Amino acid sequence: MAQDEQKRAVAQAALKYAQEGVIGVGSGSTVNLFIDALATVKGRIEGAVAASEASAVRLKQHGIRVFDLNTVNELRVYVDGADEVTEHLHMIKGGGGALTREKIIAAVAKQFVCICDASKLVGVLGRFPLPVEVIPMARSYVGREMLRRGAHPVLRENYKTDNGNLILDCHGLTLLDPPAMEVELNNVAGVVTNGIFARRPADVLLVAEPGGVRTITAKRP
Ligand code: A5P
Repeated sequence: MAQDEQKRAVAQAALKYAQEGVIGVGSGSTVNLFIDALATVKGRIEGAVAASEASAVRLKQHGIRVFDLNTVNELRVYVDGADEVTEHLHMIKGGGGALTREKIIAAVAKQFVCICDASKLVGVLGRFPLPVEVIPMARSYVGREMLRRGAHPVLRENYKTDNGNLILDCHGLTLLDPPAMEVELNNVAGVVTNGIFARRPADVLLVAEPGGVRTITAKRP
């Protein structure tokens, strides 16, 4: 299967987790294909909460109702992609810049289903530059803090998040303890969110491989 076919297969496979109620929907090219698939079963769900303006537009174009998260009591499932993911279901996310809203929806959802193609599965996180969303006035300070931690931060050019903030893409990190680094970076003043999703990892990973879609489920006590 070519990469595009893999994305389509995994988007289709995720439909089985979207049975009823309001569905949390992330962002990115794999999620776009999931939104297209969701449109084929829209009669059985109430609607969706979207992690980005772009996803909200696509959902509405398909006639799927988009809810404000504040008006939703329960979110049973959240379907989103990843930039990197390990077999422990820790992820780097935020390549599309929507990491803060993605992390909020992931926190609310009872079940996080990560969908990706085989190229995203890694042994150790960090080859993909870690996105860090920062308040604009803290850009230089946070950049220095990242340098101190061995990263090479690069300001994402001509880019503002949906929340009006900046992104520093931090190259050169090897994340041997993702939950610890996630907490540490969130404690740097001026950081809104960092793209490590490890304290609330995915519950299920659907990874499309040349032979088909593999399901990896979190092993937790
Ligand atoms: C968006 O901010 C990211 O977290 C996406 O989940 C990630 O970039 C995956 O995108 P693709 O499905 O396009 O690879």
